[in-house]
Amino acid sequence: MNDKRVYISPSILNANVHDLENEIEKISSSADFLHLDIMDNIFVPNFTFTLEQSEKILKYTSLPVDAHLMVANPDFLAPQYAQIGCFSVTFHFEAAKNPKEIIQNIVSNGARAAIAIKPSTPFEAIEKFLPDIYMLVIMTVEPGFGGQKFMVDQLPKIEQARKYIDSQVVRPIIQVDGGISESTISKAAKSGANCFVSGSAIYNSSSPSEMVEKLRNLAALELTRDSHK
Ligand code: DX5
Ligand code: ZN
Repeated sequence: MNDKRVYISPSILNANVHDLENEIEKISSSADFLHLDIMDNIFVPNFTFTLEQSEKILKYTSLPVDAHLMVANPDFLAPQYAQIGCFSVTFHFEAAKNPKEIIQNIVSNGARAAIAIKPSTPFEAIEKFLPDIYMLVIMTVEPGFGGQKFMVDQLPKIEQARKYIDSQVVRPIIQVDGGISESTISKAAKSGANCFVSGSAIYNSSSPSEMVEKLRNLAALELTRDSHK
């Protein structure tokens, strides 16, 4: 039985920040989530939105917001992102002082918890937290900027995560983030990802909502193929 649904989560990192309401509207009927990248200029060399700005962005959409915190202090910030109404809150394992406690605080504040790992972090590092999380995020670029090249050397890690998760009772979503486009999504899906963040490929296209559908179809093709194995 294939219980893997495809989720597309457009990132507004490379959208027009001066017209976010309209930019978000473009994908609102086709996307599953809205991916909100939060950078603090410490954990990564870039800054995006404050908590107050994020709260305003949440009001622009009825899509579930998938917040990706690339911040040095997720122990403090992650529960606040749950409190403002994010659907899921992703924190980086590399920055977390007490991952178990962050997960509990995200959940007790009403959101779903997710852990992200950078390209150099092995899957084994987060294995023990999998039964407690909604989603595992495997970075397929170094976090910090949109528009980077998909790192094919992360594919074995996705495969490893899929194999492990499918052998478990609790099966978190496997999200990939970075460099996802028409030419890379099939590889990521074939390796076992079922949730796809895509920024520049969606917002640089002439029709963002058609691109969401295109990406979804390409991924679904791989996942259906997989279920016939
Ligand atoms: C990278 C961010 C990604 C990024 C994806 O640090 O976490 O979410 O916006 O953008 P693309 O699809 O352009 O790589
Ligand atoms: Zn992201």
